[in-house]
Parts: sequence; C-alpha cells; structure tokens
Amino acid sequence: MKTTGGSDEEKRAAGESAAEAVEDGMVVGLGTGSTAAHAIRALGRKVDSGLDIRGVPTSFQSRELAKKVSVPLADLDQVQQVHLAIDGADQFSGPHLVKGGGGAHAREKIVDAAADRLLVVADPSKAAAQLDHSVPVEVLPDARTTAAGRIRALGGSSSLRSAERKDGPVVTDNGNLLLDCDFGTIPNPAELAAELAEIPGAVEHGLFVGMADEIHVGREDGVNVKTF
Ligand code: A5P
Repeated sequence: MKTTGGSDEEKRAAGESAAEAVEDGMVVGLGTGSTAAHAIRALGRKVDSGLDIRGVPTSFQSRELAKKVSVPLADLDQVQQVHLAIDGADQFSGPHLVKGGGGAHAREKIVDAAADRLLVVADPSKAAAQLDHSVPVEVLPDARTTAAGRIRALGGSSSLRSAERKDGPVVTDNGNLLLDCDFGTIPNPAELAAELAEIPGAVEHGLFVGMADEIHVGREDGVNVKTF
C-alpha cells in the first residue's frame, strides 16, 4: 500500500477516532489509503466483538483489507443508505479535499457522496490554507491526449501517472488512466471542479468540494476533530 505524509501513529489515531463513530446497524463506506486502512482494521476488531455493520468498499485495496479483517461487505446497489463513509485525503482545506493519490478517487467520490456523513481521516501534513496539491483526473485511455490539452488550456500541466513496478502507466480499478494535474494554488476549488468535469473523456477528478462533514486529524498525542 502506498503511504504518504505523516507518521503511522498519526494515521492510526485518525483512523481509530473515526471508527468510533460507527454504530450497530450502519452501512459504512470504506475509504482507500494508509489512513483509512487503520479505520478498516479498527472496524474489523469491532465486528469481532459483535458490531453488526456492512462495509461498502471504495477500491480493490479496501475490499481486500475488509475481507481480511472480516468486515461484511455490500455493493452500493445492494444497500438502501450509506450512513457514513470514512476516507483519507491527500490534502484538505476546510471541507474541501484533494484525493486520488492511490488512484481510487472515482469510486471514492461515488461512495463518499452517497453517504449521509463523510468523516475524513488524515495526518497533520495534509492540512493546507489553500489547496495546491496536484489533482488527479481519471480519463478514458482514448482521451489521454485531448484531456491533457484541455488541462493546459485551463492553465494546468499534466503528466500521465506511471506505474512503479510495471512498465507503462498506472491503470485504475476501472481500467482507465490517470493524469496528475498541477494548477498551483487553487483559489476557487468549485470553479476548477466544474471545469474539469466538463472535459470529454474525464471519468472523475480528485477535487471533493465541500464534501467533508468531519476531519479527524491524528497526532502523536491525540486527535483534533473539525466539524463543518
Ligand atoms: C486514494 O486514491 C486516495 O484518495 C487516498 O484516500 C489518499 O491518497 C489518502 O491516502 P493516505 O491516507 O495513504 O495518505
């Protein structure tokens, strides 16, 4: 699993804090990344102790981990409601997020947006006054070149994400490619999100505008919870 930013202790504190919000009978969106993984492991321990929940995974990675720790799973079309989702972030500013460092943001956005509440789990390195992290855009393979041109026209520069232990590009869980797009500081995330959504062949971008209901920021000595 890729890991970025702060320490494992900080990530664990954040993940375990958010898992405390899960109650009997809930359907829970299971986020992707090293911080959300701590929440999934904590939920597995709670299930072992009798908690009755179902998890909706946001990626191959979160599905495999949930299976390993025996969290019962459901697909989004099998549930009436997602009571809350717990997910990580590559950067946050207020309730706005950049996600997709693990390339899972398309399914993450579907599940997180379906949830009544989104609890974001992060270490302190993810906090920013203004978003300036590169924004991943998942594109259909045929749209790679034209989408890169549209991103240039929006004032950004993009690079095709390359795989580390395979020759060639990263291929997402959905069979698509990823353009990592640098726009510098993003003063108006909603405006950029709307522009990225207009790009033909763009499946989903990693800006999650105003989506966080709570952010659990793990520290070595505790957790700060911001509510929006
Ligand atoms: C997955 O595509 C991402 O959106 C992750 O949720 C994000 O990269 C956070 O990952 P970490 O918790 O490992 O930093």
